[in-house]
Amino acid sequence: MHIMHPIYILKLGGSSITEKHSNEFIVNQKVLAETARAISHSMKKKNFCLIVVHGAGPFGHRLVKQYKIEDRVLTEEQVRGFVRTHKSVADLNNIVLNSFIEHNIDAFSIQPSACIIQKNKKIEKFDLEIIKELLSKKIVPILYGDMVVDVSLGASVISGDTIVTYLAKKLKATKVFFGTNVDGIYNKDPNRYKDAKLIRNITYHNIDDVLNYVSGSLAIDVTKGMKGKLSEIANNLKGIECYIFKLSEENLKALLEDKTIDCTKIFL
Ligand SMILES: Nc1ncnc2c1ncn2[C@@H]1O[C@H](COP(=O)(O)OP(=O)(O)OP(=O)(O)O)[C@@H](O)[C@H]1O
Ligand SMILES: [Mg+2]
Repeated sequence: MHIMHPIYILKLGGSSITEKHSNEFIVNQKVLAETARAISHSMKKKNFCLIVVHGAGPFGHRLVKQYKIEDRVLTEEQVRGFVRTHKSVADLNNIVLNSFIEHNIDAFSIQPSACIIQKNKKIEKFDLEIIKELLSKKIVPILYGDMVVDVSLGASVISGDTIVTYLAKKLKATKVFFGTNVDGIYNKDPNRYKDAKLIRNITYHNIDDVLNYVSGSLAIDVTKGMKGKLSEIANNLKGIECYIFKLSEENLKALLEDKTIDCTKIFL
């Protein structure tokens, strides 16, 4: 099997593809359509392999909180929460997949819970064979934040960000793009402070400072919001170019075609 390089990995943040702040089960169809248009356009123009991973927004975070299944899944009620959360994120995934197929992208959903097992909230096994085969056929695998079997805790959450960093490392991705609802990482939460300033570059010189002042999410988020995202990157993606940006058609096209935009670039 031959996988063509470069490999790009794109995260569609729950903050951008759902109405995360309202905490309602509402999909942002406009952003999804813009995303699909940008991917379809850029894949025709340039040669690269793409993996898409999307977040859950309320479709995951809200149910995990409601059923109190952040730390373990033992009771009957927690098991009910586990299966319902899993169903809920799969429903969201189907909506994402539909939008991609409508825009003629050869996309293929991979259910994370069918190829990942965790132990104490950490990936224990992740079967990559199918993903590699799909990439070699220039198909776009779509994965997502999910709830998976956990051999110590019954079941646990795996965030889209964790899937992204794992795949980027194992498959030696060239670039990783995190689309969110803000332009990147600021010196303080831009949704709380009007005078927050965008940090355009993060390197080993300033990563520790930035990790200290970045915070979670204003919305309900069980995977630690922006702070969780940045720590995942810092711990796993040394030597890989990462971008955190506001998801829009224009921004995504530019990044996929190796142009610069106003965002945060992280290279450690
Ligand atoms: N210093 C900061 N700079 C930028 N955003 C910040 C900062 N501190 C906190 N945030 C918050 O982080 C949020 C983005 O993280 P969040 O986890 O909500 O998005 P996501 O990863 O796209 O969603 P999901 O986890 O559902 O996939 C922003 O909406 C913002 O309010
Ligand atoms: Mg998040």
